[in-house]
Amino acid sequence: GAPIDVDLTPIADGQIVNVFWRGKLIFVRHLTEKEVADMKAMAPASMIDPAPFLSRVKEGHERWLVAYGNCTHLGCVPIANANGQEGWACPCHGSQFDAVGRVTRGPAPINLPIPPYAFQGDAKVRIG
Ligand code: FES
Repeated sequence: GAPIDVDLTPIADGQIVNVFWRGKLIFVRHLTEKEVADMKAMAPASMIDPAPFLSRVKEGHERWLVAYGNCTHLGCVPIANANGQEGWACPCHGSQFDAVGRVTRGPAPINLPIPPYAFQGDAKVRIG
């Protein structure tokens, strides 16, 4: 599949946009400043699939998460900010992910994977 470009300018603080690349759902999440602070404060050692904040975002673009949008358990689509939590909750078997897609409750075994992508300036990402 060819790369796709996502224009970030219309994506508001806290908003999540769904895009498709190679037939796969991808979430593009504009993290709020509070979400960034909260995600940085989480201790990787206690995680199911330990990953520091900066392994989940691009340096210099900390307000953006780009991650595959299917649960790593059996592929359902998690619901954003369910019950007021910052992140996603899977409706199928209860897995939970934080605001940068790290699994915080199983049965999902691993974090939402990050596709290949790069910023093209500050207002556009190219996925692929
Ligand atoms: Fe998400 Fe099973 S598919 S918890």
